[in-house]
Amino acid sequence: MNRLSRVVLGAVVVSCPVLALGVGASSTAEAQIPESFSNLQVLPADTSRAVLVGVMRNYASSLGVGCDHCHVGDDVATFEDFDFASDDKEAKRVARSMMRMVEVINGDLLPASGRDAATLLEVGCATCHHGVSRPEPLRAILMTAFEEGGVDAVIVRYQELREQYYGRASYDFGRATLSSVAELVARAHRDFEATERLLVYNIGLYPDWDYHYFLVGVLRSQLGNMEGAREALEKAVELDPDSSRNRDALARIRRQ
Ligand code: HEC
Ligand code: HEC
Repeated sequence: MNRLSRVVLGAVVVSCPVLALGVGASSTAEAQIPESFSNLQVLPADTSRAVLVGVMRNYASSLGVGCDHCHVGDDVATFEDFDFASDDKEAKRVARSMMRMVEVINGDLLPASGRDAATLLEVGCATCHHGVSRPEPLRAILMTAFEEGGVDAVIVRYQELREQYYGRASYDFGRATLSSVAELVARAHRDFEATERLLVYNIGLYPDWDYHYFLVGVLRSQLGNMEGAREALEKAVELDPDSSRNRDALARIRRQ
């Protein structure tokens, strides 16, 4: 694989007619993009306009941002006031470090893994960024929210992100995220009231999953709420009667 295609990150960016249709800037805006470039430090200096525009669109969509995230300029509809060569924006400078990082990963580190070079997958911006500029896992974002504002802050943050990103690759809104946050809150903060609230909230979203009923049951039994524990574990067994985890936990409660 040559150097440019590594930097381009294997993305199908050049002669793809679908991508050429208005993803990103309009064609009048694109007329503002020069034929040659004055400040390419990672891409080859003689990169063609078509290739460059493809690479840039890939960056924008991988990070879920517009061109103005990295480039100086306000009028994204016309690009008239853009200064693409300027390095004033920090994000552009960080992006350059990211390009170099990706180049080392694909050019040196992955081939050194000893896997078959013919089928080796490459890392691209989207591998980590999956549509957001700061690729932080949802669970970590929610733990920060908890530390700043407790359960209410977690729920607000979760709802905001879910509203904006549900159905995309950016964040994992699957049933396990909030229950793992609840488990972390229990383990790291020993805040069992918060843990239970988070689990109950998650049950509201995913009422058919036995596992959070199991967790609520175990939690309540540890807190001495045997009646509540039995109720939750009965529900867990009802939802998944084949799970020995659920049945054993219920049997233990019934013996107490
Ligand atoms: C994530 C940051 C990022 C985004 C988003 C981005 N760019 Fe870039 N752009 C860069 C970086 C970094 C360079 C310099 C690359 C290098 O040094 O080889 C660059 C270079 C350029 C250049 C060449 C400037 C010159 O003369 O040296 C143009 C033109 C350009 N980008 C246009 C665009 C357009 C149009 C978009 C939106 C579709 C866009 N960029 C989105 C980071 C970005
Ligand atoms: C191996 C994972 C990984 C890959 C691949 C990757 N990034 Fe990043 N990127 C990160 C992480 C992690 C951060 C957050 C760093 C921080 O804490 O600020 C980040 C931050 C950034 C930022 C700063 C975001 C902001 O808004 O301040 C930009 C811009 C960026 N990356 C661009 C790129 C581009 C362009 C590519 C592809 C050439 C790329 N990244 C590939 C992991 C990655």
